[in-house]
Amino acid sequence: MNDARWTPRTLQGEQAPGLSSRARRSVALCILLVFFSACDVQRRKSDAELGLTPQQSAGRRLYDQHCDRCHEAYSARDKKGRSLQGVFKKQFLPQSGMPANDERVSEMVFTGRNMMPGFGQVMSQEQIQDLLAYLHTL
Ligand code: HEC
Repeated sequence: MNDARWTPRTLQGEQAPGLSSRARRSVALCILLVFFSACDVQRRKSDAELGLTPQQSAGRRLYDQHCDRCHEAYSARDKKGRSLQGVFKKQFLPQSGMPANDERVSEMVFTGRNMMPGFGQVMSQEQIQDLLAYLHTL
């Protein structure tokens, strides 16, 4: 009685299409996942891929630790603070309109301004220099 299920006809005619459509669905799902992970969440590039010097890498670690929660480095999106993508490529800082130079930016990092905390107590002058070296790569 149960043997009827295992005839070649049912395997080919009924079970096989069921399996392959399920397989097709999972392939489609995989493609979608790859598609979305590639578009939505950009893979983080390594220091080597970015061609960072040791000083810039040290600055990047400081950035990740202290700045990343409020400032995007690799997208134009604003968080609590404005994006810092290409911060030194422009003549003026986007929010304050101050000149985009080492002096103003290190002062901003050292003392802070309005909702931006200062890091003068947290980072040494050398660390701020490392951070600036990294910001120049954005
Ligand atoms: C708690 C969130 C926060 C953190 C953390 C933070 N910032 Fe800011 N940042 C801000 C805000 C808000 C402003 C705008 C300040 C103002 O009103 O001018 C700002 C302004 C700036 C500006 C000037 C932008 C402009 O257009 O005038 C720079 C440069 C900057 N931040 C760099 C940094 C760096 C580098 C770090 C890490 C050491 C950092 N920030 C950490 C919130 C933050």
